[in-house]
Amino acid sequence: MKEESLTLYDYLSTAKVAAKRRVIKAIRHGLAKVDGKVIDDPNFIVRPSSKIEFEGKEVPYVYHFVIMLNKPKGYMSSSVDEKYPSIFRLIPEELRERAILSGRLDQDTEGLILFSDIGRLTNRLVLPQYGVKKEYELTLDKPISDEDFKDITEVGTDFDGEMIKPESLEAKENKKDLTIVLSQGKYHEIKRIFYRRGYKVVSLRRTKFAFLELGDLEVGKYRFLDALEEEKLYNLVGMEREQKVFTVSRKTTK
Ligand code: URA
Repeated sequence: MKEESLTLYDYLSTAKVAAKRRVIKAIRHGLAKVDGKVIDDPNFIVRPSSKIEFEGKEVPYVYHFVIMLNKPKGYMSSSVDEKYPSIFRLIPEELRERAILSGRLDQDTEGLILFSDIGRLTNRLVLPQYGVKKEYELTLDKPISDEDFKDITEVGTDFDGEMIKPESLEAKENKKDLTIVLSQGKYHEIKRIFYRRGYKVVSLRRTKFAFLELGDLEVGKYRFLDALEEEKLYNLVGMEREQKVFTVSRKTTK
């Protein structure tokens, strides 16, 4: 993907200092400064390190982001600490206020979870109509029977009148370790699929989200998606990536 320059307009509209049309007008009216000088051209090229002021106030550099976290057990998928600490504690502090979770994992579930500041993206990635697949590895308290396996895959599980079937279900030889792929996002979906049939899920880990895999990302660590990964993710849910690829290097792993 071609790298593009960061314009004063891009900088200020990404920072959401005002509605996009007002940003252009305000720049033209001389309300923006770059490194202390009034700049009235919205297309003026700035650097992420430039000191930018808008209507007399300094505007810190912000960018859109998608972060992948390998969630450990013992963290809540909520923005505040409750019975357990919030998983937002595990992403960079300066992004916490803008970060939105794409779906939730239970406190005792481990694995791949995404955050972004683009709400439309985080929403679409979990809405059933977009059918984004998520893969989980799980262990049951006892081997699954052939009938139950067939029932899950062929009949499905009733969630408030809606029959949900996994995209795929595979069992290892011991019949306790399974891999399931789902494109829905019902509350406690996996635990309920098995609990209904008399099994307990004793461990659960999300290994894939769409085409994204954890790779060697350690439990408790995050990384920013790169531009191509972001682009692919946006396209998957019929969106255009909202940001140009600025020539800025940013920290990719903790
Ligand atoms: N299904 C569950 O039951 N729990 C999760 O955390 C994710 C999917």
